[in-house]
Amino acid sequence: MHIWAKTAFAAGVFVLAPGAAQAACDVDKPGSEMTHQEAAKVYHCLEKELHAGYMQGDKRWIPGDFVTDYRGWKAASDFPAAPGFHGERYLVTFVNPVGEAEYMRFKDEGAMMPAGSVLAKESFTINDEGKVSRGPLFLMEKVAAGSSPATGDWYYMAVTPSGTPMTMDVVSACSDCHQSNFGKRDGLGYPVEEVRAKP
Ligand code: HEC
Repeated sequence: MHIWAKTAFAAGVFVLAPGAAQAACDVDKPGSEMTHQEAAKVYHCLEKELHAGYMQGDKRWIPGDFVTDYRGWKAASDFPAAPGFHGERYLVTFVNPVGEAEYMRFKDEGAMMPAGSVLAKESFTINDEGKVSRGPLFLMEKVAAGSSPATGDWYYMAVTPSGTPMTMDVVSACSDCHQSNFGKRDGLGYPVEEVRAKP
């Protein structure tokens, strides 16, 4: 093997531009027309690369074990969920052992997640040309009562597809939408109904 070929191979996914994904996962139809099974196939093609991207670099203020461990937690949906306004974005949500029992009840009202619950939501997109891109990892951590009244005692965090912690005003960028829409159930959005996993 030529030396350049070896180098290119070893560099693998890490030379990809942020968000770009292996073309091997692309499909021949618009993301909005995917069946659950087809979306699951794309996810299986992409999942290792997605996680490797989130794992890159220092997680700074984000607890590193959330990013390392979430794939071993309970998956809240059987298929990638596509609740987006324009059907491009697919999501896969995981809940840690502390939060699992309560989250998986998918209560419409009165959910109350225990402190120490963590939710991790992977994302990817499939555009109108069937091109697949990696999206951010979204995280929510339930903290002790009274720690963060403005956000319902949730800490919101996000990591770019290439592993960088995202800087944002979590109240306006995350919490306002969760609290105003889902305040009656502890801020939880839940995966769309048709893909929810069994407890
Ligand atoms: C415009 C409204 C809106 C905003 C803004 C928003 N979310 Fe969400 N979020 C939702 C909805 C709706 C769901 C459930 C469906 C889904 O998964 O998209 C959800 C689900 C989640 C979940 C899975 C747990 C759950 O609630 O079921 C996490 C984690 C999450 N969001 C984190 C974030 C973070 C971090 C931000 C800020 C960067 C953010 N969200 C901004 C609406 C929003």
